[in-house]
Amino acid sequence: MTTPEPVDNAPAPLVELDAVSKYYGNIRALEGVSLTVHAGEVSCVLGDNGAGKSTLIKIIAGLHQHDAGSFRIEGEEARLSNPRDALDRGIATVYQDLAVVPLMPVWRNFFLGSEPTRGTGPFKRLDVDRMRRTTRAELLRMGIDLRDVDQPIGTLSGGERQCVAIARAVHFGAKVLVLDEPTAALGVKQSGVVLKYVAAARDAGLGVVLITHNPHHAYLVGDRFVLLKRGTMAGSHLRSEIGLDELTRQMAGGSELDELSHELERAQGE
Ligand SMILES: Nc1ncnc2c1ncn2[C@@H]1O[C@H](COP(=O)(O)OP(=O)(O)OP(=O)(O)O)[C@@H](O)[C@H]1O
Ligand SMILES: [Mg+2]
Repeated sequence: MTTPEPVDNAPAPLVELDAVSKYYGNIRALEGVSLTVHAGEVSCVLGDNGAGKSTLIKIIAGLHQHDAGSFRIEGEEARLSNPRDALDRGIATVYQDLAVVPLMPVWRNFFLGSEPTRGTGPFKRLDVDRMRRTTRAELLRMGIDLRDVDQPIGTLSGGERQCVAIARAVHFGAKVLVLDEPTAALGVKQSGVVLKYVAAARDAGLGVVLITHNPHHAYLVGDRFVLLKRGTMAGSHLRSEIGLDELTRQMAGGSELDELSHELERAQGE
């Protein structure tokens, strides 16, 4: 397990969790977990079901508070009381179930909760033209060419919806983009598209936290990898320190699989 040496004059990481713990009553969801997120990098969090991945991002997203350890945003100790706090600090989170309104047009979902208006007083109207234009332009900027931003967002594929959510976070000035298993429900091709936009957000200078079960997806875009196992940190590596094979082995629970295979052999021999 290695922690990169801080370089003199390097800017503080956008987000830094240091030995963070979180308990739900007496359930230990996280213990002693550390994660660093730099601008222009992708930090991947890998782990099995129940490993604590969502709990970790809920702390970053302001939904939960940590019980121990430290959480710094741009070098400053932080304790967020709600998701609005996180957004105000430039942290945008895209949840797996994507809070979209399926029957509303794409542009409407893009601006949900932040609609621009024109006119004042009783003449105040939603600036629909501007929302349409901006949505189309922002999606194009990310390389997404939607034929019609008026189509209900529910008619887009899961991958396209993830892409819209990413473009939205970039448009509203997020510095940190947190994605909870954006490729979990997607096929190979759509996963590739989503990972392309993850890379585009990274190249736009955002720090990205990518949660995934899939070491192949992580390794395509990741700069750092944190492995969680039952709430504890089972590994933390820079890309230069670990190859895809080793990452896959660790993710698959390499030593646990060996152990299991021995146990199964023994069981057969009895
Ligand atoms: N609100 C809660 N109250 C009690 N226990 C919780 C709560 N949320 C999560 N847990 C427990 O904490 C542990 C970590 O859960 P978490 O959702 O963070 O895992 P995960 O890695 O995101 O799993 P998955 O891959 O299934 O999404 C689990 O044992 C879970 O049952
Ligand atoms: Mg989860």
